[in-house]
Amino acid sequence: MKKTRVGIIFGGCSPEHEISLLSASNVIRALNPTKYDVVLIGIDKKGQWLLPNQSHPLLDFGRSDSVRITDEDVQSLALLPGQATELRCEEKTGAHPGNLDVVFPVLHGPMGEDGTIQGLLRFVGIPCVGAGVLSSAMCMDKEVAKSILKQSHIPTPNSICLRAHEKISLKYQDVIKKLGNPIFVKPANMGSSVGITKVKDEETFYAAIEEAFLYDHKILIEEAIVGREIEIGVLGNDFPEVSLPGEAIPNDEFYTYSAKYREAGVRFIVPADLPKKTVEVIQIYAKKAFLALSCQGMARIDFFLRGEQVYLNEVNTIPGFTSTSAFPVLWQASGVPYADLIERLISLAIEAHEKDRRLKRNY
Ligand SMILES: Nc1ncnc2c1ncn2[C@@H]1O[C@H](COP(=O)(O)OP(=O)(O)O)[C@@H](O)[C@H]1O
Ligand SMILES: [Mg+2]
Repeated sequence: MKKTRVGIIFGGCSPEHEISLLSASNVIRALNPTKYDVVLIGIDKKGQWLLPNQSHPLLDFGRSDSVRITDEDVQSLALLPGQATELRCEEKTGAHPGNLDVVFPVLHGPMGEDGTIQGLLRFVGIPCVGAGVLSSAMCMDKEVAKSILKQSHIPTPNSICLRAHEKISLKYQDVIKKLGNPIFVKPANMGSSVGITKVKDEETFYAAIEEAFLYDHKILIEEAIVGREIEIGVLGNDFPEVSLPGEAIPNDEFYTYSAKYREAGVRFIVPADLPKKTVEVIQIYAKKAFLALSCQGMARIDFFLRGEQVYLNEVNTIPGFTSTSAFPVLWQASGVPYADLIERLISLAIEAHEKDRRLKRNY
């Protein structure tokens, strides 16, 4: 049987570069070599796309800082639109990555999870694991995602959206009158808690606003939901399945970058200790949100729980894939081992692509 050639795009120039390297290493290890040929496509922190032989060191070293790529080494990769999914590099290298049957972008945050890579792959006609262009962009943008959730009657924390030019007229007292105290200030498009501050007083408020604007032109100020954090996995295309829910208990004031990635920064309990009714509500909202936001393949959906009230926090279209990451752990506990999960995701991507190709708009 012909092997499936899977391109793994990883690294990237978002602040979540290192996480992507760890996730990609695990995804690659899980791919059965009798069924899949893996083509590594690393992106370094400067945004340079690397050839397969240059991509290896990124994974081995774990940190792209330690990989020295001289200008001479850098060879460019080209995706050729309309050329039957071909990925080309400069001839002189002799390391032609060739055709790809599917690509798994193991990238987190902006320029990876936000529809940009998805658009590139769609343009050249390569099936792509996970959400498509629109869905990726909508889920990445917390303001847009919230408005869709509200339309679908899915509760989400109250918030104010602020553009950079509007910050001059912003007053702390007006904000807390509307949202209560404390509040969270966050960039609209980011991830891994980068640029997020929990604000309890006027002193930290304005600094938090400046910090969030370092990462985006648009930020959210949100009421704090003081309670528990519950995460759930969704898998599928038109008829998505949901995993058991898990509970993240961070060893920090909130689920900060450091709690997410340092050793013992978080305790993740699967299944979460929840009443059956609450599990059902979370699972119903997760499926509804997945479909409302046009997700495809996978999503990890995060909730807050205050008493019995469930709030949807956010939808992650490319969740972490390290061996301890919530998404694979949730599926493992729900009867889908890591390697099967990756295989299902690849099949779902190819299935969605085939369905798309059958549309009449394609000649
Ligand atoms: N409204 C909120 N109420 C309570 N905690 C919040 C709120 N918003 C964010 N947090 C905390 O900050 C973390 C990161 O926020 P989130 O909106 O999920 O951004 P990211 O996309 O960076 O993960 C959450 O997991 C939670 O611990
Ligand atoms: Mg989050």
